[in-house]
Amino acid sequence: MFLGIDVGTSAVKALLIDEKSITVAEADVPLTLSNPKPFWSEQHPDDWWTATCTAMDQLKASNSSALAAVRAIGLSGQMHGAVILGADDKPLRPAILWNDGRATAECAELQAALPDLPIRAGVVAMPGMTAPKLIWLRKHEPETFAKIKTVLLPKDYIRFCLTGEKVTEMSDAAGTLWLDEESRSWNYDAIAATGMDIAQLPHLVEGSDATGHLCGELAVRWDMKPTVVVAGGGGDAATGGIGVGAVSHGDGFISLGTSSQIFVASDRYRPKPEELLHSFAHAIPQHWFQMAVLLNGASCLLWAANLLGEKDIGALLNRTEAADKAPSDVLFLPYLNGERTPHNDPYARGVFFGLGSDTGRETLVQSVLEGVGFALSDGQSRLHAAGTRCELPGVIGGGARSRYWIQMIADIMGSPLARYEGAAKGPAFGAARLGRLALDHETVEDVCLKPAIQEVVMPDMARHDAYQPRFAKFKRIYSALREEFHPA
Ligand code: XUL
Repeated sequence: MFLGIDVGTSAVKALLIDEKSITVAEADVPLTLSNPKPFWSEQHPDDWWTATCTAMDQLKASNSSALAAVRAIGLSGQMHGAVILGADDKPLRPAILWNDGRATAECAELQAALPDLPIRAGVVAMPGMTAPKLIWLRKHEPETFAKIKTVLLPKDYIRFCLTGEKVTEMSDAAGTLWLDEESRSWNYDAIAATGMDIAQLPHLVEGSDATGHLCGELAVRWDMKPTVVVAGGGGDAATGGIGVGAVSHGDGFISLGTSSQIFVASDRYRPKPEELLHSFAHAIPQHWFQMAVLLNGASCLLWAANLLGEKDIGALLNRTEAADKAPSDVLFLPYLNGERTPHNDPYARGVFFGLGSDTGRETLVQSVLEGVGFALSDGQSRLHAAGTRCELPGVIGGGARSRYWIQMIADIMGSPLARYEGAAKGPAFGAARLGRLALDHETVEDVCLKPAIQEVVMPDMARHDAYQPRFAKFKRIYSALREEFHPA
């Protein structure tokens, strides 16, 4: 039995799989997000730990014998978050998250100090990443900055609570801007340019390496073996890839979670910062990937449903599909949290365009779904410009539950998409696989199998053609508004 724990943004998920990779049990504990100021996004690391303990307590209550049989744990988590610990190893303040936009000026500073940073870090400095946030803290909260003993990434804080070890692994270190992606080692120049010291960073391993054992006290609490190994794990993009077997060159998927990504595995490090892609180390040795990152995904649908007072998302989607008139009369820019690929614009915000007195809620919802589809198509065009293609990406994450949305995205992109069995399992499943690999008995090829394809969703090319002028207008609206989004 193997356990995957994913420290997401909207929930902590714990998932148990057996030796045949069948999911035996799952526990989801929701998290809330705090936006204390415009463009700020924070969560307290203690809340992740409380949610992790609750998820584990639930698994113990519902499946104690399966939990007792766990041999390894893998961790996954939201990337880029800055967790800062003081001398007592306690968080000094809430963590600053991946979708936080405060450190814009600091990105420009870092780039000016280190012109080769994008080529070494695999991406242009963007405010959601860890290093510019530390520069921001140095400038705006100097007393707190002076007290920092260690900086950890979100899932690595949970590792510290589980094992007492301060360790990270390549795929999450990749999102800090402090990793030299090609050599898979810390970039001392980038660390120094942030005003940090290597001693403040965790030890670096591969995602499939063992990093320690579950603390005795916790093993007793959950009735687990004290020999349980905790693997390096991965950032949620990489663990999503491990979960769907996206490990060989050209394997890819689209993740429709809180954020959204198009991920394509790569046989070597292929930086393309000029396309605003992220070229990062994968969670297994000698593998990399390229990714277009959208800061908004299924979260846009949840946002719209909440505002409309709709609790039953499935029913809302059914009504939207029944009223579907492709393309919708309304356009939606989905940049509720800013955007990375292809805009690198933390200030961008959502826009409805073309509202009329006859616009109903189904039209609004359709435009939201289409807006995420257009943003994905925009991201895909950057991958194509980089010469990167994926023949048949599968769709994973919460949004993958909707066949209607997958068909719409295939129509907008004009290319087929796969629906996988169990596609909503996502990163926690990949994390459990990394736990399994850390036991050292099996190879990546044995463990990282691809899920069965439930259906290949073919694009309707007549709809694709109808979407083209709308997509062009979508891009023009963003260009026309880009300057207007800037504060003041
Ligand atoms: C990837 C990214 C998001 C977060 C949130 O670069 O920022 O996927 O990891 O899940």
